[in-house]
This record gives sequence, structure tokens and C-alpha cells, in this order.
Amino acid sequence: MIRIEGLSHYYAVRAGHAATQADGHEGKVERALRDINLEVNKGERLVLLGSSGSGKSTLLRCTNLSIRPTEGRVYIGGREITSLPPVEVKQIRRQVGVISQNFNLLEGASVLKNVILGRLGYVATLSSLLGRFSEEDVAIATEALKRVGLESYIQKRVSDLSGGQKQRVAIARAIAQRSTILLADEPVSSLDPKLMKEIMDLITEICTESNITLVASLHFLELAKSYATRMVGLREGQIVVENTPDELTDKDIIDIYGETEDWVLYGKRGF
Ligand SMILES: Nc1ncnc2c1ncn2[C@@H]1O[C@H](COP(=O)(O)OP(=O)(O)OP(=O)(O)O)[C@@H](O)[C@H]1O
Ligand SMILES: [Mg+2]
Repeated sequence: MIRIEGLSHYYAVRAGHAATQADGHEGKVERALRDINLEVNKGERLVLLGSSGSGKSTLLRCTNLSIRPTEGRVYIGGREITSLPPVEVKQIRRQVGVISQNFNLLEGASVLKNVILGRLGYVATLSSLLGRFSEEDVAIATEALKRVGLESYIQKRVSDLSGGQKQRVAIARAIAQRSTILLADEPVSSLDPKLMKEIMDLITEICTESNITLVASLHFLELAKSYATRMVGLREGQIVVENTPDELTDKDIIDIYGETEDWVLYGKRGF
């Protein structure tokens, strides 16, 4: 479903900052990912682990080309997308739903409008500018909102919702988009522990029933273990561990996070 080959990404460092990890690259650059090779099969739930700054968000952003990787190739459903022109990339991207820690919603707009705008790849630009949506779009968005239990919130403004409800809107947006892939960057990091589980349960149910391939970054190890079918650990922009949740060892954890006493932080005794 997703194939990543030899992917490296270097961020330009703002003037005045020394290039600390230039690694032979010209100019002032900071290495965020180096030579990532990864395949994700249809229906898998892959969880990315790694300390802050290890490259999880960069990898997720490179996967749907919301940032163009410096080097390497990305294939979605067997098609190489890295060399496609922007118009075609847009078409492929409409099947890739994205959810993140800070929800990325239009706070001032209604719940329904947020979900319909997730269908932007489908909705004509002019109608979306005018806020006129087809009956079909409204029906699809309403159905998605029912699925996440928000049917009575359809006309509410997003800014009036709780964090858990906002994340449900973002999940509905991905459903309405008819996503076949869901990229979730710390989807539950801003929620309390009970909501974390609720939202992860919902994401897992939806991915299972619609055969959606999930790639998610999570900070809590126990949470990650209970939802992942496979786990990939990043450290300083490189994959250092690839394992199933059942077989993940203490050594794997040290390889990912370093020699750390912070087991609670990473969820070993957490929840
Ligand atoms: N826009 C940017 N410009 C320059 N450097 C960046 C940018 N975004 C990230 N980086 C750098 O790239 C590296 C990887 O960052 P990234 O955000 O991918 O890590 P992460 O694993 O998602 O961390 P976190 O767990 O804190 O979200 C870090 O060294 C970071 O400082
Ligand atoms: Mg991140």
C-alpha cells in the first residue's frame, strides 16, 4: 500500500544557525531522515515510535508529500508519487486522510463544513469557495459524522467542541474523504488517558471495517503496543527497530529511546 525507498530529508536551517548534521550535504541543512526504507501492507496498523526530534512527523509528512523529501521515492498503491506533477499528486492525496495532535480543523466553521472540506479533492473549488456543497457531499459527511457519534453536533462550531470531539471530527473528515490510508501524527497526545483509549479504539475499528492502512506516531509505548500490528522505531532520523508488539524487547526500547530511566514516560508502567 505504501512503499518508501531510500528516503532522506534535510530541512534548510535558518540563517545564523550552524549546520550541525550537514552530513556531506551542501548548504546549511539539518538532517531529519536518512535512508528510510519501509513497506506498509494494506490493512496494517503501523506505529512509529521515537523520542522527540527523531523524525516521526517528518516521515509522515513525506509519505503524503505534504513536504517533498530531499531524496528517495514514495509509492502509494504501487504508483510512484514522488515524480508526479502536483495535479496528479493531489488526486492521490485525496485518498490519504491525515489526523494530528492539534486537530487541524477550521475552528470558526461548522462541524459539517469541516468534514465536507476534507472532501476537497472531490468538491469543485468554486463551490467550496462559495460554501455550496452538493447533496451527495452533505450526505457523505453526515454519514461519517454519525459513524463517529457526532450526529447531534453537525451544525456546531468546532471551537465549541471538546478535544475528544474535535478529534472525532477529524476522523469523520478522513472517512468522508474515502481514505484508504490514514496518517495519524500523535492523534491522542492532547487528550486525557480515557479519551486516548476511546479515540484509538475508534480509529482501530474504522480502519478494520474499511480496510484502511494506518500509520500512526504514538508516544506511549503500552498504548502503541495494544493497537499496532507492527512497530517501527526511529532514532535520529533512522529506523533502528522493526518488530511486532508481542516481540518488542527491552533492548529494542533502549535502541529507540536510549538508556533511559523514564519508563513511566514511555508507558512501561504507565497504562
Ligand atoms: N520545519 C522545520 N525546519 C527545520 N527543522 C525541522 C523542521 N521540522 C522539524 N525539524 C527538525 O527535524 C528533526 C525531526 O523532527 P520531527 O518533527 O520530524 O520529529 P518528531 O519525531 O515528530 O518529534 P516530536 O515527537 O517532538 O513530534 C528535528 O531535529 C527537528 O528539529
Ligand atoms: Mg512530531
